[in-house]
Amino acid sequence: CSSLGIGLAGFGTVGSGVWNTLERNGSLISDRTGGGVTLHIAKILVRDLAKARATNGDAPADILTTNWRALVEDPAVDIVVELIGGTTDAYEIVAAALRAKKPVVTGNKALLAERGVELFALSREMDTPIHFEAAVAGGIPIIRTVQDSFVGNRIHSFSGIINGTSNYILGRMTDAGLTFEDALGEAQKLGYAEADPALDVNGWDAAHKAILLATLAYGFPISPADIHVSGIEQVRPTDINFAKNLGYAVKLLAVIREHGDGAVELRIQPSFIAKTNILASVHGVFNAVAVHGDAAGESLFYGRGAGQDPTASSVVADLVEAARGLRQASGHRGFLPYREIGNILPVGETSTAYY
Ligand code: NAP
Ligand code: HSE
Repeated sequence: CSSLGIGLAGFGTVGSGVWNTLERNGSLISDRTGGGVTLHIAKILVRDLAKARATNGDAPADILTTNWRALVEDPAVDIVVELIGGTTDAYEIVAAALRAKKPVVTGNKALLAERGVELFALSREMDTPIHFEAAVAGGIPIIRTVQDSFVGNRIHSFSGIINGTSNYILGRMTDAGLTFEDALGEAQKLGYAEADPALDVNGWDAAHKAILLATLAYGFPISPADIHVSGIEQVRPTDINFAKNLGYAVKLLAVIREHGDGAVELRIQPSFIAKTNILASVHGVFNAVAVHGDAAGESLFYGRGAGQDPTASSVVADLVEAARGLRQASGHRGFLPYREIGNILPVGETSTAYY
């Protein structure tokens, strides 16, 4: 059994969620890391040391810092988690971690979509990974699915809803008659929105995620300047009512499609979705991504696309992956069958509720 130190850059919605998840499930996670590696948070980067945090238990004051270099260079930090957002300081932190050969975990889709070419080149040069499951669709394991489970497929397309905030806003405008501004305010309070919520409503957060998916599937860099993106700021209650009366729902749809000539279509736009289409039933903060592979056919992935705990779930999965890489854990990994004693509920006591 050994221990790996995490440098947690960012202790806001997602960073606090990572702290909470490690506090709550630390021993389970250690069992599943392979070789019993314990993950502990060695240092935390924030802007404001005095701010109250939404955590289970307080982080000791001596592990908080406002100096990102102190976090990356701390010998007690083995893995750097970047959850501050933005593309400037976050870039410096990720690049410095890679240069120090410390694996990086990030949920920052803006950073990877805007500056991924440089960062992934550095990652290759330093032979040090960047893990980014949390960057696309919150708690849905879509990155690993594409990288691992679809590895034998040629991917024809992705389509779906990949911004929780805009889906939440459209839903509240439709179902509760809220104004756009009030619905956005709720999404911000719930921790779904970006620090700059313009990215959620102008379609660019979804575009950054779509760029990451397309880059994985097709392998070439896609410049944000080359794609057309429109968001939900122009959607009015009259549009929503009009759609509703015709049997449609308005959704911010992301479409990535390979064309026969090797070109890839990528668009983000508000769309009318027929009520009979499964995507029309994706409500609130939920996301859904349909992946069409030439061998697997179409698969649909559905879950919470934003928020503290679901996003922390993806960050922690990446932390475990990074820990296994550092410890080169082999053999049984992940959930281990046949190792606990437990009881199965007798037939007469099982629930007869409908799901
Ligand atoms: P957040 O609540 O705004 O938290 C940001 C944290 O970073 C805060 O602790 C802040 O410090 C710190 N910070 C920001 N800029 C800093 C700087 N220049 N130097 C030092 N510390 C700095 O953001 P979040 O919602 O957790 O999102 C973090 C990242 O995860 C973003 O890249 C976002 O796109 C991504 N993400 C978020 C979600 C979600 O549902 N929220 C889901 C998936 C991915 P203070 O606390 O002192 O202000
Ligand atoms: N602001 C993003 C959303 C967070 O609402 O989908 C998850 O990436």
